[in-house]
Amino acid sequence: GARTPLIAGNWKMNLDHLQSIAFVQKLAWSLRDANLDFGSVEVAVFPPFTDLRSVQTLVSADDLPIAFGAQDLSAHDSGAYTGEISGAFLAALDARYVIIGHSERRQYHGETDELIAAKVAAAHRHGLVPIICVGETAEDLETHGPSAVPVAQLRIALEGVVAGSEIVVAYEPVWAIGSGQAATSAQAQQVCEALRAVVAEVLGDEAAAATRILYGGSVKAANIAGFLKEPDVDGALVGGASLQLEEFASIVRFKS
Ligand code: G3H
Repeated sequence: GARTPLIAGNWKMNLDHLQSIAFVQKLAWSLRDANLDFGSVEVAVFPPFTDLRSVQTLVSADDLPIAFGAQDLSAHDSGAYTGEISGAFLAALDARYVIIGHSERRQYHGETDELIAAKVAAAHRHGLVPIICVGETAEDLETHGPSAVPVAQLRIALEGVVAGSEIVVAYEPVWAIGSGQAATSAQAQQVCEALRAVVAEVLGDEAAAATRILYGGSVKAANIAGFLKEPDVDGALVGGASLQLEEFASIVRFKS
């Protein structure tokens, strides 16, 4: 299709410093050995903040075809916000992406749709591409059906978009995250199609056609093919399986 698939590995709060560096190096070797065509798939890793500098150094020194980004950022650009990391800091590290509104941030850190919209705006002020995460809980699914909650979340998040700036959307049903119980590819397609319609409605048809929409939640080498066959699924946000080198490399190699 017209959209290059993105395989994004969200390490969450896993992998210590030495493991992070070794992982990126070995991933690069593994993908090189597989003669991967990087025009046909984009790979990105999301280490903890404390390893972004090391990953940047490694990737730039060897010109590795691996993009990277952060798992969160502050809605503010600078100032008295103890413990926060600004988009400016991330841009200075050459981070290309930033994950925003992951369900773990929403659930454990009280992030609201409004805060997430403000973070999307902050990412765009610094030239970062936000990966906007949306998804319903099992309870939401039962009460509201499959698309209602993710669609409502995305509508608010898109209020932060700076016109003409790139976004990525990630649909992650909360019940599928880390549960081993992935959505079916048909379920993922149904919601991703509804999310693309929201992008079209808010940002226009051209933006909707260019925007990559990822599926996340118990993605592994054995099920990635089914998801990527769907017309509105343009990649994956991978958690657990992104910590296992061979498994992650197999996921990446799928669409090469
Ligand atoms: O950001 C990644 C997701 O939360 C998916 O995690 O692949 O371990 O289910 P998982």
